[in-house]
Amino acid sequence: MASQKKQTSVGIDIGNTFVTTVVMTQDKETGDLNIIGHAQSLSTGMRKGMVVDIDETVSAISQSLEEAERMAGVPIERALVSIGGQQVSSSNSRGVVAVSHENGTIVKEDIDRVIEAAKAFSMPANREVVHVIPRSFIVDGQEGIRDPLGMKGIRLEVDAHVITASSPVVKNILKCAYQTGVDIEEMISSSLAASRAVTTRKQKEIGVVVVDIGGGGTNIAVFEEGEVFYTGFVPIGSSHITNDIAIGLKASIEFAEKVKVEYGAATTNHIAERDSINLSEIDPEIEKGSVSRKYIVEIINARLEELFQMVKDELRRVGRDGLLPAGAIITGGGAKIEDIAEVARETLRLPAQVGKVVEPIISIDTGILDDPSYSTSIGLCLWGLDLYRDQALMGGIMNSIGRVGGVLGKLSRVFRKK
Ligand SMILES: Nc1ncnc2c1ncn2[C@@H]1O[C@H](COP(=O)(O)OP(=O)(O)OP(=O)(O)O)[C@@H](O)[C@H]1O
Ligand SMILES: [Mg+2]
Repeated sequence: MASQKKQTSVGIDIGNTFVTTVVMTQDKETGDLNIIGHAQSLSTGMRKGMVVDIDETVSAISQSLEEAERMAGVPIERALVSIGGQQVSSSNSRGVVAVSHENGTIVKEDIDRVIEAAKAFSMPANREVVHVIPRSFIVDGQEGIRDPLGMKGIRLEVDAHVITASSPVVKNILKCAYQTGVDIEEMISSSLAASRAVTTRKQKEIGVVVVDIGGGGTNIAVFEEGEVFYTGFVPIGSSHITNDIAIGLKASIEFAEKVKVEYGAATTNHIAERDSINLSEIDPEIEKGSVSRKYIVEIINARLEELFQMVKDELRRVGRDGLLPAGAIITGGGAKIEDIAEVARETLRLPAQVGKVVEPIISIDTGILDDPSYSTSIGLCLWGLDLYRDQALMGGIMNSIGRVGGVLGKLSRVFRKK
């Protein structure tokens, strides 16, 4: 086991393409963060954010966990997991309660109750609340309060962002994770987890959109005044680009994937007319001849423009098109394509950059800090550390008055201070 001086946190990003696990420790005295293990295994049992094959999903998670354990040299007992895709949705909701204590001091129980009240909005059958993020509190009409604990008041309100998901989808992901023998602490929407890793407090304060491009689709999260106010999903991901290239080349998906990864770029701006790809260099067994690189990049560019146009439409839907001063932060495996930020900038008409992990973290393998396909799992670890710190701060009180928050009944981030 890691020493008592260190808190360990594990994130498992159960994606459609990969199951990515990261093991992180934090020194309780210095706060230093360290990634001591990581692994990525192919995820063959997931499609569109749903488990379509339990055995394959369990084995992909087990493989990823075992590899990460071996590297870290510690057993993984508990972890946070991600959920994403079409069946996750979100809404903003307000909860209202009367402050219970006679002398009008707001106690933790009032905060729990008001968050519970924010969950009580009409939700279609067969959906459940994954987690509730308090955006700000209102005490007797005074808005913009971040932490009302200890304040005086009669009426306590909360503006919360509530993430919901289809119940069977949640249950099946949890079932698979539990079958691997780990205890699941919390389930976090994948774009929020990624955002935790790649955005600064300041960016969230002034307004930013995180665009997490995975294989099957793109999860987005919009922040303003420090907290999330919209999360959404666009059903185009990097695998659509692979499919387009396969069709364009009349080749297999595997071959097209190699072409995309090795020769892809998001815009033709920097591609010479004569630049060509020698296909037999990629796989002499499968293809012969050459193809213009510009042709491939045009295919990629068309799909990415469509993707960012759909992200723009989502922003327009929530009245933020062109209005987020910190712009777009692109992450997820799909962000690895050369010059992607250029296309995002042109289409969204916003500043755009590929996200980097914003916290100073020491890693056993520094490559993963610059690898956008790790941002969700790194974000899950950081989220876990926030959670464990809150739990330690709250200590015994929590057990006596119960917990609020996520689908697992764990404490939400009310008391998180960054
Ligand atoms: N170097 C690269 N260039 C372009 N695309 C890449 C590169 N590396 C990986 N990808 C693409 O990234 C996608 C996988 O993204 P990611 O690792 O975020 O997966 P995931 O989280 O499992 O997917 P999802 O979020 O859809 O569940 C794949 O479609 C893959 O082709
Ligand atoms: Mg993902």
